[in-house]
Amino acid sequence: MTAEPQAAFESYRDEALAAIASAGSEAELESVRIEFLGKKQGRLKDLQTLLGKAEPAEKPLLGKQFNEVRTDVEGALEARRGELVRPIAAVAAVDVTLPGTRPVIGRRHPLSKTMDEFKDIVGRFGFSVATGPELEDDHHNFVALNIPPVHPARDPLDNFYLAVAGKSGEKVLMRSQTSTVQIRVMEQSQPPVRIVSLGRCYRPDTIDSTHHCMFHQMEGLMIDTDVTMADLKTVLKLFATAFLGDDVSIRFRPSFFPFTEPSVEVDVLWRDRWLELGGAGMVDPNVLRQVGYDPEQVSGFAFGLGIERFCMMRYQITDIRRFFENDVRFLSQF
Ligand code: DAH
Repeated sequence: MTAEPQAAFESYRDEALAAIASAGSEAELESVRIEFLGKKQGRLKDLQTLLGKAEPAEKPLLGKQFNEVRTDVEGALEARRGELVRPIAAVAAVDVTLPGTRPVIGRRHPLSKTMDEFKDIVGRFGFSVATGPELEDDHHNFVALNIPPVHPARDPLDNFYLAVAGKSGEKVLMRSQTSTVQIRVMEQSQPPVRIVSLGRCYRPDTIDSTHHCMFHQMEGLMIDTDVTMADLKTVLKLFATAFLGDDVSIRFRPSFFPFTEPSVEVDVLWRDRWLELGGAGMVDPNVLRQVGYDPEQVSGFAFGLGIERFCMMRYQITDIRRFFENDVRFLSQF
């Protein structure tokens, strides 16, 4: 058998594999394919011509070798094509919910963890999460909540009003409560309503171990045809029990809020102490009318709970300022 075709096959294979490996793009790879595997002309065609000229007795073996070499080159080309297209395919298929490959530095803030857990718990009671802006207008922070112009809660010294007015000339402030979201949700949807809204509120309070000028509240609102105060107490008790892990008791003390009637302060009995959680009540008919609901047709309850308070109880944190100092020695404990 002549060595010539065999040697040609080998060098064809070596050169083709090297060219395929060094192709850096699909376009480059395509020119390599044309050069080495092109049907009309190219290196493969030359080998076929060589094969045609071989002695008939040698043809079966040489034919087999020719096929092997061609299969090798075709296989390498397909593999390289896969590598070159993969980065784009991989980007399209990134699953952002998978754990990262690098070790995570830092962790969830205790308040974020608490809020996530709150959403989880009330989600089981059928409440969905609504959001509203932190920069609010007078209407949503006060007027629609039945808070009259003379009410002390509107005092400029008790709120962060902005020096500039809103688009239509209304006063603008950093919201002092999440009750604003009740109004925003009711303005945009029809009963039944079952939402919570969690977020930051701002008041120029003197900062001490239990007060801050920024804090978090969870607002709750349920509107339907037959909502009663018993529903309110049940939801709050189930919620407090789910979060604090003990069979806690809930106590209502009569109170006053312009947007609820009757209104109550909510306390929880936890480890032999009564602790104040926030305010609640039955949504005032004036508030319902304000958003276009008919108080003869629907009723509802609302509550506003301090999130820091819950988080401090749960993790035995004694100073609210720790939450906002961003001290890693504190934050890394949770
Ligand atoms: N917004 C009130 C506050 O910040 C708390 C509150 C009281 C919210 C009664 C309510 C409610 O929804 O019904 O002091």
